[in-house]
Amino acid sequence: MGDFIGLLGLGVYLPERVMTNDEWAEYVDTSDDWIVARTGIHTRRIAADEESTADLALAAAQAALADGAFEPADIDEIVLATDTPEVFAPDTAAYVQARLGVGHIPCYDLAGSGCAGFVLALDVARSRALADGRRVLVIGVELITRLMNWKDRNTCVLFGDAAGAAVVGSGAGAIEILAATAGTDGAKSDILGLEAGGTRLPITMERVRHGLHKNLVMDGREVFREAVRRMSEASLQVLAKAGVSMDDVALVVPHQANLRILNAVAARLGLSEERVFINVQEYGNTGSASVPVALWEARDQGRIKPGDLVLLTAFGAGFHWAAMLLRF
Ligand code: ACO
Repeated sequence: MGDFIGLLGLGVYLPERVMTNDEWAEYVDTSDDWIVARTGIHTRRIAADEESTADLALAAAQAALADGAFEPADIDEIVLATDTPEVFAPDTAAYVQARLGVGHIPCYDLAGSGCAGFVLALDVARSRALADGRRVLVIGVELITRLMNWKDRNTCVLFGDAAGAAVVGSGAGAIEILAATAGTDGAKSDILGLEAGGTRLPITMERVRHGLHKNLVMDGREVFREAVRRMSEASLQVLAKAGVSMDDVALVVPHQANLRILNAVAARLGLSEERVFINVQEYGNTGSASVPVALWEARDQGRIKPGDLVLLTAFGAGFHWAAMLLRF
């Protein structure tokens, strides 16, 4: 097998604490039946009080390095996708760089890219690897349960904490990146997002008292419609770019938003159940971490054979979307 740009190592970190839907019913007016019927989610992970975003990211990064048999010194650059950073500034990548012991390599966050962040970051890393021969550590991490409103039943039950990472570069035996595509519809930026905390609505005591700093604005139905449409369209676009058809794809690994969205994407693309990887029932929506965690689990569970084409597709706030075709 020759050298090409691809994924050279994968790693994840899942916080230990599992939270059930019944536990959510103690915080808000909801039920296991409602959450399962509307989202397919049964449990999610919750980070420990002493953990912060950089801890989750670091653990996933170290796992990815170990998986590819790399030392920290082998990494030339870090791109970290998150909407739930360690602090507002500087970026989480800086904290991870210092603790990983990779030296003074460049590192940066791809922040605010929603649940599409990891796939977008993979594409950025691919171009860095192509242009400059760099080996790039890509991390998708979310500690969303710390920053969301635990009293808003419309949103709180949907999410969970996790981190995933991949080393991107050129090497024999890599999971080859065949093609990538991405897009943004900034006209939809206010349909899903955190409205307060930036320059538009800076934090004040009054706003905190009203919980605005944790208020995730979400038009659930519009997000649902657009997620299905964009993840399906991006999938077809990336296949066309690679010159292959959906029949050639062994497994689709989509962003795990909720089960109904995934079923609708599968129906649009004419995919049978076994060709779509789903673990949202266990982890909920983990934002930028959802695609790397799903990809790692699919490989771990033996769902992917050497030579298989695997399609990643993701959608999130922005609205941003991205898809990537891989060959194992
Ligand atoms: N428990 C019980 N009732 C609830 C809950 C809850 N946790 N949350 C909302 N409800 C109620 C609402 O208050 C509302 O009640 P009302 O009709 O009396 O006002 C009702 O349920 C809403 O019902 P529907 O509109 O029929 O709910 P819907 O079938 O649209 O499901 C959901 C809502 C699950 C949010 C859906 O729209 C969805 O999945 N949207 C996508 C959202 C998403 O995935 N966001 C994640 C971030 S973006 C991404 O990852 C792609």
